[in-house]
Amino acid sequence: MVNDAYPGLSGKTAIVTGGAKGIGAACVQFLAEQGANVACLDLDKEAGNSLAATIGPNVMSYGLDVSKSSLVHETVKKVAEDLGSPTLLVNNAGISHYGTVTETTDQQWDRILDVNLKSYFLCAREVIPYMLSAGKGAIVNVASVQSFMSQQRVAAYCASKAGIIGLSRAIAVDHAPTIRCNAICPGTVDTPMLADAIADVSDKEAILQECRDMYLMKRIAEPLEVAQLVAYLLSNLSSFITGQAIRIDGGIGLEIGASVRD
Ligand SMILES: NC(=O)c1ccc[n+]([C@@H]2O[C@H](COP(=O)([O-])OP(=O)(O)OC[C@H]3O[C@@H](n4cnc5c(N)ncnc54)[C@H](O)[C@@H]3O)[C@@H](O)[C@H]2O)c1
Repeated sequence: MVNDAYPGLSGKTAIVTGGAKGIGAACVQFLAEQGANVACLDLDKEAGNSLAATIGPNVMSYGLDVSKSSLVHETVKKVAEDLGSPTLLVNNAGISHYGTVTETTDQQWDRILDVNLKSYFLCAREVIPYMLSAGKGAIVNVASVQSFMSQQRVAAYCASKAGIIGLSRAIAVDHAPTIRCNAICPGTVDTPMLADAIADVSDKEAILQECRDMYLMKRIAEPLEVAQLVAYLLSNLSSFITGQAIRIDGGIGLEIGASVRD
């Protein structure tokens, strides 16, 4: 049964990049539950296929590297034929990489920027004409708290995530009032990316606890919490919000160290 809690999503075609796992998979599932037809674009076609199979016929899976211009062009065209003109876009595909500037090779820098930033530009470039023809569209670009603050040794990742804020603002300015575009900035979310990041750590629970303690909420986020914000920003409920970078970060970094509480 279609849930109409987020008006403006039902019957629309949404594209979610990196939709097979983690935050993207939660977006695919949640948007489909709101009645959208959802195209899941992911490198991992098998994971995308099994996600689509568990949700139903209003989700279709497309296997591609979204940082490749010609593949994005062909795939968006195919999505329009299969599911109807896309008017909702969630740019979410991302990869992480650890390294200072002096530790990062040209290839690593290019790959991070290609996946985390260029793919957002490529997908927006292909989808915006459909939105303009339809007279309406909404884009959510998944950035990070690391658009504003930085861990140690994430130079390329941080640069890509800060770039997403500028790109989102530029799209919002260029295509208003027809298209709204916002960035969201999650703190730590429980996804395969997080599992990969701590894969080599011997005491995983200790590092996770350290992570939870950084947040005022004393926990990390679930992918569904991020998907709900994405749905809100794509829906008519957020009709006067555009060009913003919205943090969904459990209040990390707000508290000043010393306390005078006794
Ligand atoms: N997990 C976190 O703590 C966290 C925090 C802040 C921001 N983010 C951002 O949220 C987004 C999703 O992160 P996640 O944690 O769900 O990641 P994830 O690794 O769990 O899932 C990412 C998905 O993207 C796909 N993907 C990667 N490169 C691709 C490419 N070139 N083409 C197509 N698909 C590709 C992967 O196959 C995977 O299915 C990323 O942009 C990430 O930077 C994550």
